[in-house]
Amino acid sequence: MYHNPVLLKKSVDDLVTNPDGIYVDVTFGGGGHSREILKRLSDKGKLFSFDQDLDALKNTIDDERFTLVNQNFRFLENSLMIYGIQQVDGILADLGVSSHQFDVAERGFSTRSNAPLDMRMNVMQHLDAKKIINEYEEEQLANLFYYYGELRESRKLAREIVHHRKLKPIETTEDLKSLFSYIPQFKQNKFFAQVFQAIRIEVNQELDVLKEMLVQSYKILKTNGRLVVISYHSLEDRLVKRFLKNGMFEGEPTRDIYGNYEKAFDLLQSKAIIPDEAEIAENSRARSAKMRVGIKN
Ligand SMILES: C[S@@+](CC[C@H](N)C(=O)[O-])C[C@H]1O[C@@H](n2cnc3c(N)ncnc32)[C@H](O)[C@@H]1O
Repeated sequence: MYHNPVLLKKSVDDLVTNPDGIYVDVTFGGGGHSREILKRLSDKGKLFSFDQDLDALKNTIDDERFTLVNQNFRFLENSLMIYGIQQVDGILADLGVSSHQFDVAERGFSTRSNAPLDMRMNVMQHLDAKKIINEYEEEQLANLFYYYGELRESRKLAREIVHHRKLKPIETTEDLKSLFSYIPQFKQNKFFAQVFQAIRIEVNQELDVLKEMLVQSYKILKTNGRLVVISYHSLEDRLVKRFLKNGMFEGEPTRDIYGNYEKAFDLLQSKAIIPDEAEIAENSRARSAKMRVGIKN
């Protein structure tokens, strides 16, 4: 299976309020969410789905109401403009990588297989994990481990990498992991997951593109249109939460003339929605999922 979708029914229930409407799935992947959205649309409804990974294109759906766009969702607004779409009824984002991307060893996403350091969702892109590990300045590496991996020993890790790459280029995931063999066995899974997460975020500029997509989503959503975002780590969830609340990512939110904070969205539920135990038991990816739903003001 290409990908087992998380929070499938719940996310689409919360997304689709107008069967005749125009919807966008910015993370098509295996098309699980897209297929479910199409089930809820009438003959008049339309769905535009995005994926930057060429592999996802083979999952395309043969349906007149459906268009698959092989593009980074940071170009959401302009890409839709090409199809004459300026306003939409709902947008779904199921962030991160698909199981397929993890499972294909040579993509380099998995901590479990030995593969070239790659981690690009879009294989046409220039920047890959090998470039980052072998060419970034020590301080850049330390920052990305600190901010994207939430690793406290980020400076030490960066120093270690810079020391070793002077002796021999670091080419594969095993080369990288072997530098940290001193990490106690029982801590290794979590540690490498954090290291790989940090590199993956940098390779794909995941937080920057998420911000760009959220800002554009707000612009193109109709009033009362819905934005549904499923995220898998706290860095993404924090951005989504702040944006849905205040329409911004940092700084003091703006106030209206009465001194009230201006709200970008109403939240369908104030707390993040999470998968139930049954879903987590059946799909381990669901364990870290958090979904937030905003209704545009
Ligand atoms: C978690 S999977 C989505 C799975 C999908 N909901 C399903 O039901 O199969 C995320 C997908 O979004 C794609 N993706 C992630 N970031 C993207 C971006 N910035 N632009 C376009 N596609 C992106 C990935 O390539 C991946 O295929």
